[in-house]
Amino acid sequence: MIFNILTLFPEIFKGYLESSIIGRAATKGFITVNLVNIRDYALDKHRSCDDYTYGGGAGMVLKPEPLAGALNAVGVAPGRSESGQGKRCIYLTPSGSLLDQKKVEGLAEEKELVLICGRYEGVDQRILDSYVTDELSVGDYVLSGGEVAAMVVLDSVSRLLAGVIQSDSLKEESFRMDLLEYPQYTRPVEFKGKRVPEVLLSGDHAKIACWRLKKSLARTFNVRPELLMRRSNSREEIELIEKIIDEMNEEGEANG
Ligand code: ADE
Repeated sequence: MIFNILTLFPEIFKGYLESSIIGRAATKGFITVNLVNIRDYALDKHRSCDDYTYGGGAGMVLKPEPLAGALNAVGVAPGRSESGQGKRCIYLTPSGSLLDQKKVEGLAEEKELVLICGRYEGVDQRILDSYVTDELSVGDYVLSGGEVAAMVVLDSVSRLLAGVIQSDSLKEESFRMDLLEYPQYTRPVEFKGKRVPEVLLSGDHAKIACWRLKKSLARTFNVRPELLMRRSNSREEIELIEKIIDEMNEEGEANG
């Protein structure tokens, strides 16, 4: 898959792209990352890419011409968003719709993506109107630019591509996707007086699976209850949730 990343700060990506899973995916050719410096397409001698906002107000706006040049260089022409054809062209912005695993799976079906990293107060609206197919946010907080958000998209999409990580891990993950992870332990069995839960040492796979499911449900219930509300829980899961609630009530009573 090809990722075209349009940014004013391509150097931010270097270490990340050379390390770990993403580095390996690039070396093995599962992904190609094309970093495009928007400044290379600035038109004036100062290579300026930002300007004051019309109507007044604090902050600067990314000028349309350098961005249009960078988009043209990666084969994106104006009008794509209206025709619904061509490459998905994504603008990373806190004003976008929230990225979740379902959206990531959709993006992983594409052959090529264009990611525009905003800076300052944002980009000229005419670029969004003419070129951008998706506006995505990676969370309800404001980053100093779209680069970290672009890395989130790159990472979450790449790991779903064939060959990038073991398909067993993905299967397990998608099965449990709408629940939070159960706790994980590795050696030693005892660390600073705390032992690994005995059930994990028992070798009883059914018991271990039940323990993990219960831990996942309890964590989701406590931290992200809305996830439990919107998934269809099995009979076994509902019984476990009832047990978790009973145990929490008992604990509450015991603690006065
Ligand atoms: N740029 C700044 N903040 C962002 C966010 N939360 N998501 C995507 N892009 C951003």
